[in-house]
Amino acid sequence: MDKNQEILDQESQHLASATRIGYFDMVVDHGEGATITDADGRTYLDLLASASATNTGHSHPKVVQAIANQAQKLIQYTPAYFSNTTTAKLVDRLAALAPGDFDHEVAFGNSGSDANDAIIKFARGYTGRQYVVSFTGAYHGSTYGSLTVSSCSLNMTRKIGPLLPGVVKMPFPGPSERLARESDDEFSERLFDQFLLPFKTYLPADEVALVLIEPIQGDGGIIKTPQHYMDLLYEFTRKHGIVFAVDEVNQGLGRTGKMWSIDNFNIAPDLMSVGKSLASGLPLSAVVGRKDIMESLDAPANVYTTAGNPVTAAAALATLDVIEEEDLPGRSARLGQKAAEFFQNAAEKYNFIAEPRVYGLNAGIDIVDQAGQPDSEAATKLIYRIFELGAIMITLGGNTLRFQPPLVITDEQLDEAFKILDQAFTELAAGKLKAPETDHHIGW
Ligand SMILES: Cc1ncc(COP(=O)(O)O)c(C=O)c1O
Repeated sequence: MDKNQEILDQESQHLASATRIGYFDMVVDHGEGATITDADGRTYLDLLASASATNTGHSHPKVVQAIANQAQKLIQYTPAYFSNTTTAKLVDRLAALAPGDFDHEVAFGNSGSDANDAIIKFARGYTGRQYVVSFTGAYHGSTYGSLTVSSCSLNMTRKIGPLLPGVVKMPFPGPSERLARESDDEFSERLFDQFLLPFKTYLPADEVALVLIEPIQGDGGIIKTPQHYMDLLYEFTRKHGIVFAVDEVNQGLGRTGKMWSIDNFNIAPDLMSVGKSLASGLPLSAVVGRKDIMESLDAPANVYTTAGNPVTAAAALATLDVIEEEDLPGRSARLGQKAAEFFQNAAEKYNFIAEPRVYGLNAGIDIVDQAGQPDSEAATKLIYRIFELGAIMITLGGNTLRFQPPLVITDEQLDEAFKILDQAFTELAAGKLKAPETDHHIGW
């Protein structure tokens, strides 16, 4: 038996099923840049970047050095009681980086999930209102607050209610809602009418604290909100005194070809949540937002013992240096252009590939059957073949290929990845791919 399997068999005796979404029987041992190596010494191109949590690549030397230096100096003193020299620097740095020409404050957390919970707290605290509005298809996290505002898997709510009260979900303007031959503006206006319906029938706008949105949905399928819809939404929040917050946990920090995904829309949010790649994958998150909103709650409304821990803060400072020095947003835009061309060509060549959605090094590719309907089985065959050929890629929502490599991936590695994908596409078209023999459910 190989080492991967041996470790998995052992681990499965005591690992709770709710904590792992099943894909490949692989155990990661180490990583470097855009590659990871498994317990049997097999190296893969990583087209997932630990779920967009390693935009700077695996074990970037500058980040490693910063972590080592800080660990020598001080591993932890809780920022809940005392400031420390490293975390204090990060507060200034994040406040300066946030979009919007107004004063910002920062609240740290340990995960994207708790950052989104904090957004709900601050918005309610500031407005004195209870209702929270989010969108179908969203993934905001796994704590009670963040899973209540999410809407992308029944397993996230099944058997665990009651959830947070006062949450209303609106239809997200994604491709599944779109009618044939509808223009962007027509589509935006029709979906925005659907957004308005609850406000005309049971939801008083002056009792709504928050609208929370992923400007580009991540786990929902890498789906960008149409600009006109976003403008209408933002104007609505201005008119009714509602806090407008964006979730940048998945799509922030250069992923979309800009520093923040909301920068693609020319809007400055009141609050935003950041996590995942912020500390190159160490557990650190933050809410960054308008000072007046952030000042609406008093301690200990949002303290955690390890939130803003100095080692994670040192990693974040080094991560932000790398993002700037290596111009990772610019790199994501440039290589994203190459990816867009590759996937566009593939869509023209293979009828099982629908219109690709590519925003920087960040793509959702729907795999469909002859009738244009989602084909999860074909998508599963593809990711398994891609895995055999040496690259890690997973599916979202069953039939969407998720393409999110580390932003430091080299041109050569990207070309190699395209070669692998093209081979898998060709083999699927030729009817050569089989469904994997596995006894576990695959994917979400
Ligand atoms: C958009 C978005 N928000 C929040 C989260 C939750 O972050 P975490 O898993 O760090 O709690 C995720 C995780 O996938 C995410 O994609």
